[in-house]
Amino acid sequence: MNNTYITTPIYYVNDVPHVGHAYTSIACDALARFYRLKGSDVFFLTGTDEHGLKIQQATKKKNVDTQSFVDNMSLNFQNLSKNLNLSNNDFIRTTSQKHKKSVQSFWNKLVENNQIYLDKYSGWYSIRDEAFYSEDEIIDGKAPSGSDVEWVEESSYFFKLSSWENNLLEFYKENPDFVKPKSRFNEVISFVEQGLKDLSISRTSFDWGIDVPDAEGHVVYVWIDALTNYLTALDYPDLESNKYKNFWPASYHIVGKDILRFHAIYWPALLMAAGLPLPKNIIAHGWWTVEKEKMSKSVGNVVDPNEIVNKYGLDQFRFFLLREVPFGNDGDFSKTSLISRINSELANSFGNLVNRVFSMTNKNLNGIIPEADILENEQKLISACDEIISDYMVFFKNVEFSRALESVLEIVSSTNKYIDNMKPWALAKEGKKEDLERVMRASLEMIRIISILFYPVMPDSSSKILSALGITINSEKSCFTGEYQIDSLKVNTKLGELGLLFPKIDKIEG
Ligand code: MSP
Repeated sequence: MNNTYITTPIYYVNDVPHVGHAYTSIACDALARFYRLKGSDVFFLTGTDEHGLKIQQATKKKNVDTQSFVDNMSLNFQNLSKNLNLSNNDFIRTTSQKHKKSVQSFWNKLVENNQIYLDKYSGWYSIRDEAFYSEDEIIDGKAPSGSDVEWVEESSYFFKLSSWENNLLEFYKENPDFVKPKSRFNEVISFVEQGLKDLSISRTSFDWGIDVPDAEGHVVYVWIDALTNYLTALDYPDLESNKYKNFWPASYHIVGKDILRFHAIYWPALLMAAGLPLPKNIIAHGWWTVEKEKMSKSVGNVVDPNEIVNKYGLDQFRFFLLREVPFGNDGDFSKTSLISRINSELANSFGNLVNRVFSMTNKNLNGIIPEADILENEQKLISACDEIISDYMVFFKNVEFSRALESVLEIVSSTNKYIDNMKPWALAKEGKKEDLERVMRASLEMIRIISILFYPVMPDSSSKILSALGITINSEKSCFTGEYQIDSLKVNTKLGELGLLFPKIDKIEG
């Protein structure tokens, strides 16, 4: 079946969105758009994680009602999704009734399968990470993430995680691409090999969560609540629902490296315990620092994605994030590197290609897309590009955005070189109309292909260019026929208006 289910993590609403959240979301959006272009039926999910002690504490500090607080904070993420032009099919909130029902059903299924028992938890807990840590994980009194921990002793339900150790290791062995990058997968495997303890999955010391069925005073541990969102959105527990049947198991859970353990160990174990199929790919991305520093409120360097979008442009921002660092690696967000990418790769390279071809066609051919034969030089250009496109397809499927973008930029640069060699301005001056038409026809063809390839990452700009070429990408479906063809260029039609797409940025202000 040609269906693809892509998820972002659901974002904690204790704070406003920052560039790290935008990054995960944009990556998922690019992947979702890529698969739609390939004709796949895509379900792309994002949302907010609204329970837990961290959030209850955040509201206490502000002295507001918890539900109204999370309603407001969730709106920030919903607005961000719009501002980032995300093509998500749903936005899930863990405080919804639908989700509550799903989590309680999931819990009951685990009970039914004899996977849960009541005991007492005593150990370390980090509120910031919403995670339990064992004694040997604590370094100088802190969690491995550097977060503060507190000692917790309370009555708790446990999930028999330890009994799934061998099944997990077997599953990893049979699915060597389950987690990417490989280095992170190895960390996951060695963590499991060292032995798993049963997982505390309910809390009694606060009440901001989903009630454990038939167990007064217990709320479901926020990570069990949160992970289940991926099923809720597909109408779980209704396994006959079309959404569930079409889209489970998930094709890609995209997550930051900090939350890989939950997705690559706990989640598959829970799903096995509930008798449900496991997701196909878990992709862990790296973390962004800002001007080489860890983003933090106390340092005051938290980057608001809305501000960057307003100042530098949405597609510029999306492009930068996915182009700057190989997915999986950590990256540094600096205005200097953002501006330099925009100027060199978008303004000087891609933008310039589009501008000069459009303006030469307007000036010398009345803006009409010419009908012309293809000769050897053009054939060479197109065949070279064929090869690069097959790389692009592989890079995208492997969630290697920066390499995929690099391959498109290669096509941009070979097209710019072709134009430099063919000197269409001289052909125009010398009145060699047929030659000029051929060069413009080939260049417009290349712009068409490049715009389709850039579309998953820069949907606005690509749509504008394609629409100026008379091509609509609205339906988003099946636009790569064969591997990358939309219907061919519409010859003998007039080019539409196209403003300056990527203005050059002169200097860093503020
Ligand atoms: N609520 C959990 C996820 C539950 S999913 C079932 C959570 N939320 S979060 O808001 O703290 O983080 C959401 C995502 O943002 C994570 O993937 C995290 O890695 C990512 N980022 C948060 N800060 C980041 C950076 N500085 N850089 C890159 N991504 C980062 O965890």
